[in-house]
Amino acid sequence: MVSLSDLQVRSLGACTVDSPLALYVEGRTTNEYYVGETDRILYDDTLELIESRGVPLTELPTFESGGPRQKIFFDPATTKVGVVTCGGLCPGLNDVIRAIVLELNTHYGVRDVVGFQHGYAGLIEANGHDVVQLTPEFVSRISERGGTVLGSSRGAQDPRAIVDRLVELDIDILMVIGGDGSMRGAHNIGAEIAARGLSIGVVGVPKTIDNDIPHIGQSFGFSTAFAKAAESIKAARVEVEAAVGGVGIVKVMGRHAGFIACYAALANHDADFVLIPEVGFSLDGDNGLLALIERRVADRGSAVIVLAEGAGQDLIPASDRQDASGNAVLGDIAGFLREQITKDFANRNQPLTMRYFNPGYAIRSVPADASDSVYCARLAQTAVHAAMAGRTDMVVGRRRHRFVHVPIPFVTSGSHSVSPDGDLWLSVLESTAQPFSMC
Ligand code: F6P
Repeated sequence: MVSLSDLQVRSLGACTVDSPLALYVEGRTTNEYYVGETDRILYDDTLELIESRGVPLTELPTFESGGPRQKIFFDPATTKVGVVTCGGLCPGLNDVIRAIVLELNTHYGVRDVVGFQHGYAGLIEANGHDVVQLTPEFVSRISERGGTVLGSSRGAQDPRAIVDRLVELDIDILMVIGGDGSMRGAHNIGAEIAARGLSIGVVGVPKTIDNDIPHIGQSFGFSTAFAKAAESIKAARVEVEAAVGGVGIVKVMGRHAGFIACYAALANHDADFVLIPEVGFSLDGDNGLLALIERRVADRGSAVIVLAEGAGQDLIPASDRQDASGNAVLGDIAGFLREQITKDFANRNQPLTMRYFNPGYAIRSVPADASDSVYCARLAQTAVHAAMAGRTDMVVGRRRHRFVHVPIPFVTSGSHSVSPDGDLWLSVLESTAQPFSMC
């Protein structure tokens, strides 16, 4: 069970420097739209959850609030910041880089901001990647493009070599934009810094199109990504409706979490079945997928299946391979289902027109939409405020509209997935009319 101590963010030391943003926040107190810097944000959000803890108010688990402080730890005139993007691409990476640079430069007057190329690999000198000077001019238009101007890569690197490089380059703050693996890496870098008694901050902006990082609210880029995936579902619907015995499969990313599949399916109500890693299904039997497709095609003429790549892995042989981030390489569930559905229709002498869509990387390589761009900018600003205030070993997030600081060990100790008992999955069942149990 989470406790207040799990949510305590580490600080490099007392804030003694006047913040250039002090005037913006002086005299501000908490209200419906703002959280004062000494106030804290509740972890629980219902009366029953709070009551069931049975602890005094001051011991309830709460997050430190995000936002500018009146006093900061680093002196902007002498502060140097490094930025790195790690892991798979995600819409909005360039927006985050841009907003970090602009916030540091414009508001704090931090002029020395550099970018490391190709993830943590770029922090290892021997790899020979140049360090890029990130100026307001350099970043001014980058958010118009997908991907990351800094490049990315998967995989851990030796934290000792990374800290050597940070020291060599006089970096005071490392801003890491990455997923759960990258955040584990950031924590290891922070631990190495602490072991050497250095005052270098490590602050993360969590990134994942799978939306599977816990406690941070919705991750940036997710909304752009599922909107793009929804386009393929719409196309599948059009294709299968025009065909005889039309069955469409749209495979979307989502290794352990089916958020993209659920949200994309909900976006336009074109899906008949949504298959996600969190909810098992059978192929055979009266409530199995094959019988359900048969009935749906008989009743409505066609069926569209939205398939998260991690769904139904128990139905196919397991792979023992891992990617560079240590994730198990998934089996080809889409290929397996196509084969099984084709066989089933052939056995019943029913016409089948199979249409397979794999939007794959296309959903994560696009630029962020306007809403995600705003979100990226605000997360980046929050991360800069935290970093300048000397916070370390933490990421920023937005819980129920409040920006918060979350310790990295807390976000990496669990994962976020679609709850089969939650209201999201209920909405999917309501929208698709697929049965509650497909086993
Ligand atoms: O972790 C995000 C993600 O987009 C997963 O959904 C997907 O399995 C994976 O990255 C694929 O990325 P890559 O091919 O870069 O390893």
